[in-house]
Amino acid sequence: MLRIAMLGSGFIGRFYADSIQGQRSKDKIVSIYARKEVNAKKFAEDYGCEHYTSNMEEAIAHPNVDVVCIALPNNVHEDAVMLCCKHKKPVVTTKPLGRNGAEALRMLKAVEEAGIFNGYLEDLVYTPKFLKAYDSVKNGALGRILWAKSRETHPGPHSDWFWNIELAGGGCILDLGCHCIEITRSFIGKDIKPVEVMCWADTQVKPIEAEDHAIGLIKYENGAIGQFEVSWTFRGGMDLRDEVMGTEGTIWINNFLRTGMDMFTTGKGADYVAEKAESNTGWLFPVGDEVNDLGYNHMFTNMFRSIEEGKQPQETFYDGYVVNAIIDAAYKSAKTKLWEPVNLEVWRGQEGLSKASNLVDYDEDNYLVKEEMTHYGAKKLILKNKKTGAFEERILE
Ligand SMILES: NC(=O)c1ccc[n+]([C@@H]2O[C@H](COP(=O)([O-])OP(=O)(O)OC[C@H]3O[C@@H](n4cnc5c(N)ncnc54)[C@H](O)[C@@H]3O)[C@@H](O)[C@H]2O)c1
Repeated sequence: MLRIAMLGSGFIGRFYADSIQGQRSKDKIVSIYARKEVNAKKFAEDYGCEHYTSNMEEAIAHPNVDVVCIALPNNVHEDAVMLCCKHKKPVVTTKPLGRNGAEALRMLKAVEEAGIFNGYLEDLVYTPKFLKAYDSVKNGALGRILWAKSRETHPGPHSDWFWNIELAGGGCILDLGCHCIEITRSFIGKDIKPVEVMCWADTQVKPIEAEDHAIGLIKYENGAIGQFEVSWTFRGGMDLRDEVMGTEGTIWINNFLRTGMDMFTTGKGADYVAEKAESNTGWLFPVGDEVNDLGYNHMFTNMFRSIEEGKQPQETFYDGYVVNAIIDAAYKSAKTKLWEPVNLEVWRGQEGLSKASNLVDYDEDNYLVKEEMTHYGAKKLILKNKKTGAFEERILE
């Protein structure tokens, strides 16, 4: 059993608590910190916490606390992490790790110097669908991964601080792109170096300084390409979709809307439907078990087991730092309109990779371009002559 201090009693703190204390879980939130004591007290009542406080350090240093879970606004992550280092408490923190790469790097260095367990709470690489897809990718079912795309769009976040560029550190690229980048990076391979980013971003709808819509491309050293599509202006709920394309296969994932459950109601007895749902009448797309389907259960299982077994979890502060570094390059590219390099002062993956060959031998004289069975029963081959470069089609009987 692990005893947890939850820092933050808001939106994500409550999702985390529902996951940690859901089902027959043996872990327990023993201390809750919120900025306002009244909110900490309410959370303590709701989740049966023995201790509540509006003093962050008191929650972290509490003698009954084994691990600290940071569920605070982006501008407070660093202070919270530094206090965990001071008190040598294992720490897991929500996304994004920092508001930028420099902040994330300071946090990474601090936890490693303090020698404390550190986990990065990127729930969307723990969804049941992602985990299944990831296994298939790792087993080679898709061959060499060429392109991975992830999309998170919704009508915008739920608290004031997200909309303040200073407190949040950015707009939808930072808030939603961090998920998409880690999803696509995982499919491509976390040991493959992200080298350059090209990004379009704009403020199309909201009266804010940050971007509310963006599309970005991330080039990896082995020639693979990652793509993110993010928006705070999308209408129709929360759209979470991933696509992976490899030389041998394809995966399409729809995590949230249109997951196989469709429901119609006139609105009688209307209630909560799903995160960021815009309507609770008419045709609706509920999510079976939101806490599980968003990855929180698998994520905390991985984090807490790793602490108990003295292992590194699937996602660490290092991953959060790489994501922040990619986002920094995206913001730069959106301004310069150029491919911008990803600046990684710390890189622990492979170096010096190049693109794999696209030449597949058919026989001594030809490369194979493709083969296809036609509707009229002929099996056709398209070949390319190795010497002349000429293309030829052959029909196999
Ligand atoms: N899927 C996800 O992983 C996911 C989803 C939503 C939010 N988040 C992240 O969780 C963090 C918190 O977001 P949220 O949606 O829970 O926010 P929220 O506004 O709902 O809650 C924030 C909590 O932090 C506390 N707090 C402490 N110091 C504060 C300060 N200086 N300013 C404002 N609040 C302060 C508040 O009391 C509140 O309990 C953010 O980093 C956000 O990016 C992650």
